[in-house]
Amino acid sequence: SPKIIFDTDPGIDDATALLFLNACRNIELLGITTVFGNGNIDTVTRNARYLKRRFSIAAPIARGADRALGLSASPPPIHVHGINGLGDVPIDENDLPPLDPRPAHRFIIDQVHAFPHEVTLLAVGRLTNLALALSEDPTIAKRVKEVVIMGGAFGLAGPNGNVTPVAEANIIGDPHAADLVFAASWPVTAVGLDVTRQVIMRPADIEILARDGGDAGRFIAEISRHYMTYHRRFGLDGFYVHDSTAMAFVLDRSLFETRKGPIRVATDGIAIGQTIMKDRSTFHPPGDWDDAPDQSIATSVDRDGVRRLLMEAY
Ligand code: BDR
Ligand code: CA
Repeated sequence: SPKIIFDTDPGIDDATALLFLNACRNIELLGITTVFGNGNIDTVTRNARYLKRRFSIAAPIARGADRALGLSASPPPIHVHGINGLGDVPIDENDLPPLDPRPAHRFIIDQVHAFPHEVTLLAVGRLTNLALALSEDPTIAKRVKEVVIMGGAFGLAGPNGNVTPVAEANIIGDPHAADLVFAASWPVTAVGLDVTRQVIMRPADIEILARDGGDAGRFIAEISRHYMTYHRRFGLDGFYVHDSTAMAFVLDRSLFETRKGPIRVATDGIAIGQTIMKDRSTFHPPGDWDDAPDQSIATSVDRDGVRRLLMEAY
């Protein structure tokens, strides 16, 4: 059973994915590492601890980065996931379980060494913790099993970012970290908006979860109410489950098609945060792209298959 470290910024779709992982019998959740994003680091770490307590998640939690690489201050809050990051559903802050004493990137390094070639890093937020782990100990690249991220917008059918026309939130939130992660010699698969926007939870699905999904199902229904209102603003009846879609890739990659090539990230300018894969079969003059290792992106998804996988777990 795959050993997973879940690097996350809970976050409504993050919490949904975490509860799914917790329900999965055939994986081993080694740890949860938090990163700023859907809330500041205090908020998202508090949310992870809350989920751990309420849903009896055994895995330890290590607190991670509070800002993007090279920046001197934490970013201003964003409120797609509500002020409290969990759709403003009230969170009981009493008796939250303790944190692992190590910072997230150290926790990642230690686990990778403890279980060589066995650890899957499933990262569904900014890639800051992964980049810090790589910089502190580049040897982990050769020792992880694989890295699967929710991130990027590869524009397979035209520009499709969600923060700018070309940039997705997890990448534009720390473009330098993302560029480092794609440039390292470890196998990365990016499950980007190109596929995550195809997996939509509908109000009817949420009703089923609320009715048959136990406490986790009820909680997902509660926190999604806010997310659903947000999605309605751009005409969607339901909501995207970005992070759970990346998780589904780890559990059953036969639900996806992928493509390989080197990936770079624009780190400044108008296209900051854009993720671009080079097609090695097309000729370009030699340049920065050629040294980058081949990575993978998801190019299509069996959307009903992923939905079924999710619905059946709760
Ligand atoms: C990503 O950004 C966050 O809001 C979500 O949790 C997801 O990881 C989608 O762009
Ligand atoms: Ca996330």
